[in-house]
Amino acid sequence: MNITIVGTGAMATLFAARLSAVAEVAMIGTWTDAIEMIRRDGITLDGDSCCHSVNTAYDPDDTPAADLAIVLTKAYKTPIAAQVAAKTIKPNGIALTLQNGLGNIEILAAQVGADRAMQGVTMQGATLLGPGHIRTSGRGATHLGYVPIERAAPRDWGTDSHAYEITALFNSAGLKAQVSADIDGLIWGKLILNAAINPLTAILRIPNGALIESNDTLELIRAVTDEAFAVARAKGITLPYPDPFERVKQVAQLTATNHSSMLQDVLGQRQTEIDAINGKIVEQGKALGIPTPINAALTSLVRTIEKSYTAEVVENTEKTLRPLRPLQ
Ligand code: PAF
Repeated sequence: MNITIVGTGAMATLFAARLSAVAEVAMIGTWTDAIEMIRRDGITLDGDSCCHSVNTAYDPDDTPAADLAIVLTKAYKTPIAAQVAAKTIKPNGIALTLQNGLGNIEILAAQVGADRAMQGVTMQGATLLGPGHIRTSGRGATHLGYVPIERAAPRDWGTDSHAYEITALFNSAGLKAQVSADIDGLIWGKLILNAAINPLTAILRIPNGALIESNDTLELIRAVTDEAFAVARAKGITLPYPDPFERVKQVAQLTATNHSSMLQDVLGQRQTEIDAINGKIVEQGKALGIPTPINAALTSLVRTIEKSYTAEVVENTEKTLRPLRPLQ
């Protein structure tokens, strides 16, 4: 099977590394350092050069036509990543998004067609240490969506059998995977974790575990999760856990030493996924008449941090922007 991974960040590199054991894998991206490093030295995983060889390219024309394209870019890059996926997959190929946030599947489906677009959610963890160089942090499950029989249109059958094939492939590569009839519930389940953990750790510059050490941050987690839960309920979403606040605390504990992906973005002065995470909760809350002031405030704060990424501001505030506590 030919697989193209669209993206060169932590999760893209992780999936490329694992899947290279069971398929021909190519990565397409725009980050020159990563493309050149992987081309020259391959992928480095947990300090060891690993894996079977992974092809790299800047342009889909330079990779073999793919049976499967996996979009693993940051959510704000989805419009361009979806175009790349559309160009790279075979006529009967599948484009799968495993990205964070809401709105990715709609963009992907608009490019490749609804019958070739698939959505999933992954709890795999990885930290980018440098171009082509990652540290793994947890081997959580990956779920792929399929359409339950009662809701399926005839054309969905093709996609569904692909969901089972891809799941089998992921499992053979050591990526624990399963198909799910309620992918929306799982997407919202992860969205709420990201909405609580990511902006708070990015604004406060603390590892995930520090969030549950103070009553102030616990109250903020409570407020974010209450708002998001109210929006999810109004949309008829069933979450994969009964109590969002407790689940966030549990994940923060389990990933205590992790730097969330948004914290990594802020420390690297990169655009974050705030609009696709808390921004979408605010947008959907507005549409349903549900107030989401804390999610709105976190969105504004992270957007303000993004705007501060100019050399001048960074230089002037270097001292005050130091982490509040040592990051492990
Ligand atoms: O985005 C992340 O960093 C992760 O999804 C999570 C679950 C918040 C853990 O760090």
